Amino acid sequence: MLRVLTALKPTNILHIGNYFGAIEPFLQQQKTGDSNFLFIADYHSITVPQDPDELRKNILFATAAYLAAGVDPEKTTLFQQSYLQEHTELAWILNCVASMGEVERMTQYKDKARVKGETVSVGLFDYPVLMAADILLYDTEIVPVGEDQKQHVELARDLAERFNKRFGETFVIPKPMIRKQGARIMGLDDPEKKMSKSAPSEKNYISLMDDEATVLRKIKSAVTDSEGTIRFDESRKAVANLMTIYSLVTEKSMEEIETEFAGKGYGDFKIALAGHITAFLKPMQDKINSLLKNEDELRNIIKQGAGKARSIAQKKMIEVRKKIGVS
Ligand code: ADP
Ligand code: TRP
Repeated sequence: MLRVLTALKPTNILHIGNYFGAIEPFLQQQKTGDSNFLFIADYHSITVPQDPDELRKNILFATAAYLAAGVDPEKTTLFQQSYLQEHTELAWILNCVASMGEVERMTQYKDKARVKGETVSVGLFDYPVLMAADILLYDTEIVPVGEDQKQHVELARDLAERFNKRFGETFVIPKPMIRKQGARIMGLDDPEKKMSKSAPSEKNYISLMDDEATVLRKIKSAVTDSEGTIRFDESRKAVANLMTIYSLVTEKSMEEIETEFAGKGYGDFKIALAGHITAFLKPMQDKINSLLKNEDELRNIIKQGAGKARSIAQKKMIEVRKKIGVS
């Protein structure tokens, strides 16, 4: 039995970086895996202020999006994190195993804190420890994530090893699973930074819900370079990023894309790319909209999933409490 687990924050939107970095690799695992866990990381969302009604809406949207993308509740335990207090409980215990120094080294926190300064929440600093708890609670072996989360999975490994050494074999040591191409989709307006939900401009990302006109507008305004050719070269970050997206939505290789656009410029390439993105997203959008019509059904699915997750999480916490000497 191979246990695979991942999670995404229900914050604002989901973008194609989230899809190709985390959701699609998870779906690949779902095909062969026999023990798959995907959850809506609502306790991670509140590390930055959330409007409660918006949060509730985003949780249902995320549920609909995963189902529409192909998550099968028969094969995957799909649940909402906050149904299970075991996540936050284990996070506290791991807080007492983690050192300030190692958590301070997390580059994502450093990047985010730089922007927010003193107003950054303690939760944002601590969230990699909660993430470690999320992973270790379920004896997870494989964690499909985008490149930016690799360091956090490594922290989970370190904490598991330290805990096991101190208190005896308790946690499985997890491994990140990071795809070769598409693990880091860059911002359309800034190819130096990863595409992100929290980017200041909407032109940074393609949301899974963007319509045809929006996709075209955003792709047309995407940054390129002055070379003018459709040739894959990692050092040409903007064009390499657009070609990567093209390759992901069409399943064509870079060579095929280069041949298709030999002698053509960015204008033609962008129109074709926008068309392929829309064709890729449209069926998923239709399913999401139809699933969102039945909110009770969505709530039921994540609640039932939580029930399945609970039996594993409770068992693990009984073991953990006993090992460390609390009741
Ligand atoms: P965001 O960074 O946009 O707020 P999350 O932090 O919720 O998104 O990330 C959810 C998942 O999506 C994680 O596995 C993360 O690694 C992946 N991910 C986020 N942004 C990208 C990206 N630009 N390219 C590839 N994967 C990404
Ligand atoms: N921290 C991850 C992110 O921001 C989301 C996440 C929370 C996660 N818990 C997890 C990912 C456990 C994998 C496993 O993207």
